Amino acid sequence: MDVFRARRARLLASMTARGGGVAVIPTAPERERNRGTFFPYRADSHFLYLCGFREPEAVLVLVADDSPRQFLFCRARNDAQEIWTGHRYGPEAAAEHLGFDSAWAIDELDRKLPELLINRPALWTSLAVEPELEWDRRILSAIRAVRARVRSGDTAPQTVHEISAVLDEMRLIKDEFEVTLMRRAGEISVAAHCRAMRATGPDRFEYEIEAELLHAFRAAGSQYPAYPPIVASGPNACVLHYTDNDRRMLDGELLLIDAGCEFDGYASDITSTFPINGRFSGPQRDLYRLALAANYAARAEVRPGNNWNAPHEAAVAVLTQGFIDLGLLEGNAQDLIETETYRRFYMHRTGHWLGLDVHDAGQYKTDSQWRSFEPGMTLTIEPGCYVRPADDVPEAFWNIGIRIEDNALVTPDGCEILTEGVPREIEDIEDLMRERDA
Ligand code: GLY
Ligand code: MN
Ligand code: MN
Repeated sequence: MDVFRARRARLLASMTARGGGVAVIPTAPERERNRGTFFPYRADSHFLYLCGFREPEAVLVLVADDSPRQFLFCRARNDAQEIWTGHRYGPEAAAEHLGFDSAWAIDELDRKLPELLINRPALWTSLAVEPELEWDRRILSAIRAVRARVRSGDTAPQTVHEISAVLDEMRLIKDEFEVTLMRRAGEISVAAHCRAMRATGPDRFEYEIEAELLHAFRAAGSQYPAYPPIVASGPNACVLHYTDNDRRMLDGELLLIDAGCEFDGYASDITSTFPINGRFSGPQRDLYRLALAANYAARAEVRPGNNWNAPHEAAVAVLTQGFIDLGLLEGNAQDLIETETYRRFYMHRTGHWLGLDVHDAGQYKTDSQWRSFEPGMTLTIEPGCYVRPADDVPEAFWNIGIRIEDNALVTPDGCEILTEGVPREIEDIEDLMRERDA
């Protein structure tokens, strides 16, 4: 509880430093899947970061003035409903256990919101986030309700601040509590990838391997996968967001798995690529070595003071030279990089911020410049190469798709890999897969 209250206090301090006002932050809506059944509920990441509260239908309110206050709206206790959907805190217990100054039933929100906004200089919230824009409508009608009181001498907020501008920056630097959760998410996902490697073999189906991953995540206490797992065999590995996972895996092909669990809100995001029969062929080996060299080159650039793009530039340099050496591209590496010709085989970037969201909060540039790494930032490192069949491409490489994705925490003198333990070297992968055959 203290960690969340402290985060709210930091947010209040930032708001006060910029003139104060009232922050109103709703959690995510529940989403119906079909006819009265719902998608598994996941709270909004900003809300989770500030409250650690997982019930739907909740709104955080922070008042930044001379005596800062923290309020919560949440579902009222309801014995009849709780028989169906389980325990609810209710406002009283939520205020006490979660460290709020007061809490009210969510049904009170529309009535109380205008009161909370009266005579405040600014409203801080997040707009244009959900596709239905229900929140935006609610907020705007609260502002209109305050404006209607102008002849009583009341004023409505004159400014609306996008609160993500502050929260994204706070979330970018992880505290110890978050790092602990991210390490755990990493460990669980590492074990899941090892389990998947042991389960893979010719003629099995991709979904069987997906099932192994999901089993390993959930059995270790993760609440959900952080994103739909990609289990892509053979040519499917060249489809970057492949998620059908329904193909029979063939002898002689590679399997690319991009899967990570979410643990107590925090994502991990790992990709491994390995041979379905446990032995790399010559061309697979060549391209795998290249992707691994790019991964190592990128890792080496993750340290305070280096900018966000340095790992990407390092990966692109290694990959481009490799594409030339293997006869996939012709010409001079520098030219191929400047003209972005390498993108034919490496078309995505080398990473993204990682945290409560898989593609986590935080700008990548400040003042139009790539930002510098700082201790506490967490990111993915995920170079790869994808070779689709074409007349001008050596046939030996057709349909090989490889990505090697790790998660890193920036430390004072470099980075800590949070996903250490997935076999990466060719010999280690083949050894692990031999265990499977023993
Ligand atoms: N798994 C999503 C990504 O790698 O960005
Ligand atoms: Mn991934
Ligand atoms: Mn990723």
